[in-house]
Amino acid sequence: MNTLCLPAQEENIALAARLLRQGQVVAFPTETVYGLGADALDSAAVRAIFAAKERPADNPLIVHVAERSQLDGLCEVTETAKSLMDAFWPGPLTLLLKKTDRVPAVTTAGLPSVAVRCPRHPVAQRLLQACGLPIAAPSANRSGRPSPTSAAHVYEDMRGRIPLILDGGDCQVGVESTVLDLTGGAPCVLRPGAVTPEMIAAAAGECAVASSVMRPLREGESAPSPGMKHRHYAPKARMTVFVGDDEKTAAEMIRRYDEAANAAILCHGALLPRFGGRRAYSLGDTPLETAHVLFQRLREMDGLGVSLILAQGRKAEGEGLAVMNRMARAAAFDIVEL
Ligand code: TXA
Ligand code: MG
Repeated sequence: MNTLCLPAQEENIALAARLLRQGQVVAFPTETVYGLGADALDSAAVRAIFAAKERPADNPLIVHVAERSQLDGLCEVTETAKSLMDAFWPGPLTLLLKKTDRVPAVTTAGLPSVAVRCPRHPVAQRLLQACGLPIAAPSANRSGRPSPTSAAHVYEDMRGRIPLILDGGDCQVGVESTVLDLTGGAPCVLRPGAVTPEMIAAAAGECAVASSVMRPLREGESAPSPGMKHRHYAPKARMTVFVGDDEKTAAEMIRRYDEAANAAILCHGALLPRFGGRRAYSLGDTPLETAHVLFQRLREMDGLGVSLILAQGRKAEGEGLAVMNRMARAAAFDIVEL
């Protein structure tokens, strides 16, 4: 299949909407990462997403809508869900709600809940309006690769697998949406994102964080969100994350870099001048900047053929929680505290 990559202007959005209505798979930008979309209510179309991504069939998809009314008949919108939609939609917050029979089992991987999100990216909004369908869309990477934050990343992973990529430039947030479970007692964050637990608690009165957000699953433990049990956000190189004191971090990174044959360093902007002629790249000066560049940097490291990535982490709080959740998984939880 020939894969077109077209700028996200009106006539190309219209083409994408036509393809979606025909049951095809199209990649499009959102404010978090690029999504791989298809009609969420068409089982065959949704199966084509799983095939293009090589995604395990037990990992459910997020259903994207242009506005709340599109959820009518698809899920039970609770009072808490309404308050959170008032506060954060459109935006990077995904809500897990009880689904109805209209949502096919393949979309939710057989689960009784459905994940729903209303993205705020103008291209995603226009596309959802133009096709008039609820669109199931996982991140547009091949399963196990870092999520794509530019059309070029999507092309790398999806060339020959889908007919069209809408190019809307770089994604602003850079890490995937917050996934919040509203099917149990207190709202519970299953995947941290730009909407933080503190922000959710301020709008909903309370917010828990799943314990598996910052540690590996134990032997035999079942994942609250199926996506967490699969290898995720993985660069090709081995990766170690350093957290704590800047001085000690710089010294330890230099020691390991000089010992290794083919290493690279990813660090906060402020630490960059410490590494002399070594290969070192910036992860920005704030947790939000790190979120914005992280997946891009991991793909660059793959491109350089690096075999060891030495990366400086963030405090696992506020927006830093989302960053550390992704970095910890990319590093298979090889985290050094200094
Ligand atoms: O920002 C985002 O959320 C992006 C853009 C494209 O919207 N999408 C995205 O989708 O990251 P994906 O499929 O890569 O991640 C969805 C996560 C997975 O970890 C999945 O297991 C979880 O949400 N999830 C989806 N439906 C679920 C459900 N019913 N119960 C529990 N977890 C669910
Ligand atoms: Mg994904």
